Amino acid sequence: MQGPPLIVANAEIRDEFIVAGMERLQAGAQALEVAEYVASLVEDDPAEHTVGYGGLPNVLGQVELDASIMDGATLRAGAVAALHGFRHPIRVARQVMERLPHVLLVGEGANRFAAEIGAERRVMISPGAAVAWAQRLQAICADGEPLDTIELATRALRASQGSDTMNVIVRDSAGNLSSAVTTSGIAWKYPGRLGDSPIIGAGNYCDNRYGAATCMGLGEAAIRVSAAAQVVTLLRLGWTAEAAAREVTGQIAHLIGTSHTPNHMARADWVRILVVDAQGNFSAAATRPGLSFKVHVAGESRPRLCEAASVGASLS
Ligand code: GLY
Repeated sequence: MQGPPLIVANAEIRDEFIVAGMERLQAGAQALEVAEYVASLVEDDPAEHTVGYGGLPNVLGQVELDASIMDGATLRAGAVAALHGFRHPIRVARQVMERLPHVLLVGEGANRFAAEIGAERRVMISPGAAVAWAQRLQAICADGEPLDTIELATRALRASQGSDTMNVIVRDSAGNLSSAVTTSGIAWKYPGRLGDSPIIGAGNYCDNRYGAATCMGLGEAAIRVSAAAQVVTLLRLGWTAEAAAREVTGQIAHLIGTSHTPNHMARADWVRILVVDAQGNFSAAATRPGLSFKVHVAGESRPRLCEAASVGASLS
């Protein structure tokens, strides 16, 4: 059965951004356009400290941005990682998909490409993020001892500011799916660290025939189980959106539960997965309670806030 157009997103996204996306969707825009559009609105929000302009920097004070977008109709995808100095990483990711025979560009290559296509430049650190970084550095260097970057990041990450990220999955009136993810990654990360967000199959996967999945939280855990691709494979095998989200989240809960090291990132040890299947059924699961997501169905005036299922460890 063909469900109505809808947008599923993480709860931290402002309602007004989702509503703006729904207006375009109801005016006939395709899922791919709307996913990119909603992500670009979040990238401009200075109050969002894990995405775009407001994002917190790496341990050296540079905001490195990751983004990916996937088209469920064609399985085309584009991504950038460790991009800096450009306002809309999601737009650059989309152009990687449109203009190159590649999926992922990183670092200097991503910056070169963004410059060549005329992507809009911006100083991508907000005053608030710069102050937060300076305070964090002061706290970990209080004893005045010279530290290499490994030790700086190790100390800084003990109180990581998390990795909320931005996830949006859009289903349009033709039943096409698209998924977009954009993030500044874990605050105070080692320079060059990529999470799951720019890695197709880890933080983002989308196939009209089965469904789409996106991840937030500790990217290292999502990468290690190929989380988003695994969810969509389970949908292909006939699992419901809820069962698929729970299964893969359970695997991640097990990883997180057995992976604590002295470098353990105390505030980022969770993952939340959003899922929409080919019929428009949606679900979400998280490795800890209290995490929500938003669903905006065409015809409803505002997004609904829904609770993600809280899932413990699974070894299946
Ligand atoms: N999930 C976002 C990140 O780990 O960078």
